[in-house]
Amino acid sequence: MENRIKNAVEQFEALLRQQLARQERMEQSAPAKDFSGMQTVTVGLIDGDGIGPIIMKQAKRVLEKLLTDEISAGRVVLKQIDGLTIENRLALGKAVPDDVLAEIKTCDVLLKGPTTTPKGGMMESANVTLRRELDLYANVRPVMVPEEGIDWIFFRENTEGEYALGSKGVELPGELTMDFKVTTDAGTRRIAKAAFDYARANGKTSVAIVTKANIMKKTDGMFSRIAHEVAEGYPEITAEDWYIDIMTANLVNPAVRSKFQVFLLPNLYGDIITDEAAQIQGGVGTAGSANIGGQYAMFEAIHGSAPRKIEAGEGDYANPASILKAAEMMLRHIAMTGKAEKLGKALAECTESEKRVVVTGHRDGATCEAFTDYLLEKL
Ligand code: IPM
Ligand code: MG
Repeated sequence: MENRIKNAVEQFEALLRQQLARQERMEQSAPAKDFSGMQTVTVGLIDGDGIGPIIMKQAKRVLEKLLTDEISAGRVVLKQIDGLTIENRLALGKAVPDDVLAEIKTCDVLLKGPTTTPKGGMMESANVTLRRELDLYANVRPVMVPEEGIDWIFFRENTEGEYALGSKGVELPGELTMDFKVTTDAGTRRIAKAAFDYARANGKTSVAIVTKANIMKKTDGMFSRIAHEVAEGYPEITAEDWYIDIMTANLVNPAVRSKFQVFLLPNLYGDIITDEAAQIQGGVGTAGSANIGGQYAMFEAIHGSAPRKIEAGEGDYANPASILKAAEMMLRHIAMTGKAEKLGKALAECTESEKRVVVTGHRDGATCEAFTDYLLEKL
């Protein structure tokens, strides 16, 4: 037993040193890339697994139509990146194979279909690996229900919390397991700044800082304290303090939910509450997600690869709206605002005004392809 404890302590020490080194790298990171002056923007397209290739095929048709001129002028390069499939990842024993990661790093931004994450075992999720390797620290997820006045945007910290060491927990086999949650000063400051900058630039009047700092005293305690420190630089914006449990209740309470505007949360709470929020909007198939870092950004659907839908032969009924919303966010990020607005308007017309919705797995609705055919006519 003494030996096993000693090994676990050594493992913990190594993790502590790695995380401290990461915090130091963050403090020295280069200024963010400015897309407005770039000659060529390279967009990497990654299909993923399950329903990933089905929805990505439609997203490519949309981008090719929307960006015809930019592509022929060489202003935008669409680059297909293969090999991020579950079969390939399992065969190589790598969450993101080295050659795939090298290809990814030649791009400026990525549009990515969902990738399956094996439960248990040692294999890390491809998403988590990419978020870490590309330092995509801000997970930005908008949710809107116009008829109810809901206009939410979630700023989920994307590289720390329970995710930083999620596959590196400590174990005394058969008896005890311990996972870790990591909060750093630099990691919190940058996501808090992203949320408050967004609020300021978009005329929002409040930011809800959501933690469980009454229980997770060290990690969430620090997150809350630093978020409030950052808030002092934005005196025109109210920084509200909330706990995650009551906030999940607030989101299902129509009497209060529309008053919330911007949410700032640690990683795992952000993961959970954004699925809840997406469901309020009409389902996880309707929500896009942006993973933003200083040098790279990756845009994807909020949901997973839905392997059960594939097994049931319902893959063709996957809703492409989520990945198309992600594509819209990507266009905005690379400073092609006009194109983003065009896509956003066409999507809203299809889904909100004309109710041309695909409900994943429901054969009585439109297929993924038929929906896109209809949308393309509006572009
Ligand atoms: C998300 C997903 C991912 C996460 C999975 C696929 C690893 O649920 O983007 O919200 O947990 O972050
Ligand atoms: Mg999630």
